[in-house]
Amino acid sequence: MILSIESSCDDSSIAITEIDTRKVLYHKKISQEAEHACYGGVVPELASRLHAVALPNILEETKPYFDRLKAVAVTNQPGLGVTLLEGIAMAKTLATLLHIPLIPVHHLKGHIYSLFIEKPTRFPLLVLLISGGHTMVVRVESFEKMEILATSMDDSVGESFDKTAKMMGLGYPGGPIIEQLAKEGDENRFDLPVPLRNSKLIAFSLSGLKNAVRLVVEKLGGAEAMSHQDKCDLAASFQKAVKLHLLQKSKKIFKSEPIKDFAIVGGASANLYLRDAYENLCREFGKTMHTAPLEYCSDNAAMIGRYALDAYERKLFIDPNEINIASNRKLETGQML
Ligand code: KG4
Ligand code: ZN
Repeated sequence: MILSIESSCDDSSIAITEIDTRKVLYHKKISQEAEHACYGGVVPELASRLHAVALPNILEETKPYFDRLKAVAVTNQPGLGVTLLEGIAMAKTLATLLHIPLIPVHHLKGHIYSLFIEKPTRFPLLVLLISGGHTMVVRVESFEKMEILATSMDDSVGESFDKTAKMMGLGYPGGPIIEQLAKEGDENRFDLPVPLRNSKLIAFSLSGLKNAVRLVVEKLGGAEAMSHQDKCDLAASFQKAVKLHLLQKSKKIFKSEPIKDFAIVGGASANLYLRDAYENLCREFGKTMHTAPLEYCSDNAAMIGRYALDAYERKLFIDPNEINIASNRKLETGQML
């Protein structure tokens, strides 16, 4: 079995995955959403302190598996330095004390592997990754070969949902709140700009849209002056603009990428309105769409464990004395993930 740890942001999570069957035998996640809600976003130092309490509590429950562990895996990039360190310290200690190999895992590759937790591995794949930290399209040809085809030039999709919610005085994380409000809203009430609409660039950008939302909130007299219906309408109009932007750029990629399988992963892939839009786009282009089970869309250790299974086969181990937060290198179009 492999024990995997995830602490790159505000979720403390540990999973146990069986090597032979690839089954998740144990999975627990403690989210810190409530603690960060009043700040409208994640406060790194607070997140770090909460991990320091939550991770050992979860680990306690996994003790019965300890004598059957063959490796420990941990997210070591990208993420918040102070929170990654909490998971890394625990993984390092376990690997050393139990005399088992240590596997470093790239968080974004973990998100991609969330697709294979309950389904067989499938390559090649075109993947849209939309999370709180990242927005990109990746051509995944194999475990070794994942090329970034497009990224966001500024904010990520998840972040834009979070900030839109924050501007309207709603809670954190904003994604599920905005999606819910949008169901009651008129998506045509506010004419928000679709980012990069007239640009040939195959890239994403969400910060202009965020500013447009801010202007509407100001025009309506601020969050306190907005009615429930105003908020629903703005949420719906914002979500529609995000959808149109993602679809427009994805279409350009679909036209030149013959790969038949397409997937959406990451926290914002839980959004059913966006999923629906992509189902239609895939139908139009004759592609098959894949998603991870809802419980594995946002950050979790099961996806880290799933990736670690393939890394274990390849013996991609690291010396516990050598592991550190891998530098948060810029992830740009044309680079390998
Ligand atoms: O993948 P994730 O858990 O963490 C990162 O790796 O960043 O993604 C969290 C992000 C948050 O920004 C959250 O607002 C967004 O995913 N999110 C959503 C939805 N559920 C979560 N965004 C849009 N619609 C949703 N239903
Ligand atoms: Zn994530």
